[in-house]
Amino acid sequence: MNAIRSSGFTLSPNASLRDRNTLRVDARAAWLADIHDAAAIPDLLDQAVLRDAPTLLLGEGSNVLFTRDFDGAVVTMKTRGIETLDGGSDAVRIRVAAGEHWDGLVRWALAHGHAGLENLILIPGSVGAAPMQNIGAYGVEVREFIESVEAYDLRQRRHAVFRNADCEFGYRDSIFKRHPDRWLITAVTLRLPREWSPRIEYSGVQDELRRMGIEHPAPIHVADTVMALRTRKLPDPAVIGNAGSFFKNPLIPGAQAAALRAEHPQLPCWPAPNDTSKLSAAWLIEASGFKGLREGDAGISNRHALVLVNHGDATGEQLWALAQRVRAGVREQFGVELEPEPRVITA
Ligand code: FAD
Ligand code: EPU
Repeated sequence: MNAIRSSGFTLSPNASLRDRNTLRVDARAAWLADIHDAAAIPDLLDQAVLRDAPTLLLGEGSNVLFTRDFDGAVVTMKTRGIETLDGGSDAVRIRVAAGEHWDGLVRWALAHGHAGLENLILIPGSVGAAPMQNIGAYGVEVREFIESVEAYDLRQRRHAVFRNADCEFGYRDSIFKRHPDRWLITAVTLRLPREWSPRIEYSGVQDELRRMGIEHPAPIHVADTVMALRTRKLPDPAVIGNAGSFFKNPLIPGAQAAALRAEHPQLPCWPAPNDTSKLSAAWLIEASGFKGLREGDAGISNRHALVLVNHGDATGEQLWALAQRVRAGVREQFGVELEPEPRVITA
């Protein structure tokens, strides 16, 4: 089979995904489609080779673990474009194509004097994937800025627009995450209020600002601080394969958290909605003895216990087996169930 090219997409057979996922797993796709123009989506879906094939939506692969090859079409938005819309005197509105890099957008916003996104600097991945798990870091989540999400409904074969409330955002959660591969996100519109105050309550941020000698931080100082903390804490996927946090921080009933804290006073724990508490998954994993563990090329980072790493040639199955071992260890030691954060493509 040969590649199929049109002005709006390219469709390649038997494609390697190794450079398409930051865990650097050597999986393959029967077909790999790159979309350069959102208007070409219906045309792509009408291609004979795709008509009955399953579809998997992929961005930059920074939150996905392939444990097998994909016998269908992996579809990626490669569209680019950042457009400023009228937001009145209170806010600036920005419509961004799904294929833009999230970190590039944050830097673009800062360079144009639009504050708000600086706590989310250096998060890998595409703009189209940002609403999927409502990306968040350093006390801020993207849901605060999303006005609407444009998508193509692959089931009903039509365009759809989701207002913020339709997205059902939660901690690392959204309607899109709960229905994977149903809506291909094509663009996101953000609303950044012009009134700004720094968000520096997250642990370690104020210490870092003090260390930098900054008393009244501007947006760029917050960005610099977050970059310094992230670079210090997290392994770089360009150096060692990883997908960031491999597990979500677990939300458990408040009473169970209080009992655990009575036994383990150092366990980091934060109040969460509906009488629940959020625990630090990293702490639970480290206290269960897994930090820095290595099985072949699959490992748990020695820098951050929440990060599953590929030291070289680990397969997706090996990485997944290690993740399951960690999960079982934490369950046994603390009675807490860890849930993977990345999308795991299993059989
Ligand atoms: P992918 O990994 O390709 O896909 C993720 C999910 O989104 C999949 O379910 C996929 O099907 C779906 N998807 C992708 N594109 C589309 C689309 N256009 N339409 C519909 N569905 C789509 N996340 C945080 O929230 N906070 C962090 O601080 C953070 N830090 C990280 C640090 C490192 C070093 C790494 C490697 C990852 C980190 N992540 C973090 C996770 C990751 O960056 C985010 O989840 C990011 O949004 C994933 O983007 P992506 O384009 O790589 O998506
Ligand atoms: N900790 C340990 N051992 C470690 C690392 C951390 O015990 O090896 C403990 C420390 O007590 C630390 C606490 O865990 O104070 C929290 O650590 P950190 O500030 O690194 O945050 P996190 O809860 O591990 C979350 C997100 C990250 C996000 C940071 C900053 C999740 C699952 N992860 O990590 O997001 O960047 O906060 O906001 O919510 C991602 O989603 O991929 C990701 C990297």
